[in-house]
Amino acid sequence: MAQAISSIWQGITYRGRDGHYAWMIHRVGGLGILLFLFLHILDIFLIGLGEETFNDFLILYTHPLFKIMEMALLFGVFFHAFNGVRIILVDFWPARFSNWKAQRTMFRLVVLLTVVFFIPAAIATVAPFFNISLPWWPA
Ligand code: HEM
Ligand code: HEM
Repeated sequence: MAQAISSIWQGITYRGRDGHYAWMIHRVGGLGILLFLFLHILDIFLIGLGEETFNDFLILYTHPLFKIMEMALLFGVFFHAFNGVRIILVDFWPARFSNWKAQRTMFRLVVLLTVVFFIPAAIATVAPFFNISLPWWPA
């Protein structure tokens, strides 16, 4: 246990900059999506038990804590998808993509794409919570 805590601590405090942050967010994101998938399998399964049971369970997702977790899920999904493509490029074409300059450009692009996709998705996710209707998003 002490060893596990120490290695997690080392993983957080290691000063590896871009590549290290990408690795950490990718891993936490991947595991987060997987955890959500388990819950999601349960909620979709409940449709089979009738509309009332399903709707009763879905009330859980309207809780503020779940809204925050939904934000984290959105960010994790976008980052994992874009960063995953970056990793694939480096893995398959190392001669072209593994030099530091390409790595830096790709990391910046990953962060940019993640933010550009995350912001409107995050606004659409919290808007109903504050009773705001968005002209560009179906109610
Ligand atoms: C908060 C975001 C999400 C919402 C609101 C959502 C909603 C839904 C709904 C309503 C269905 C049932 C569709 C149907 O049977 O007609 C579904 C199915 C499914 N979702 Fe999601 N989902 C979300 C995120 C995700 C994520 C992140 C994953 C992947 C990790 C995922 C994986 C799946 C799978 C595998 C199915 C079953 C597909 C099927 O049976 O055809 N979902 N989702
Ligand atoms: C656009 C879709 C996706 C892409 C392009 C993608 C890409 C990748 C790549 C390239 C890796 C290897 C990382 C490495 O070598 O360090 C990886 C790891 C992983 N992915 Fe995905 N992935 C996607 C979707 C998902 C989904 C939907 C889940 C969860 C249900 C997931 C869970 C994981 C996990 C748990 C790891 C291991 C992380 C680690 O060992 O650090 N991924 N992904």
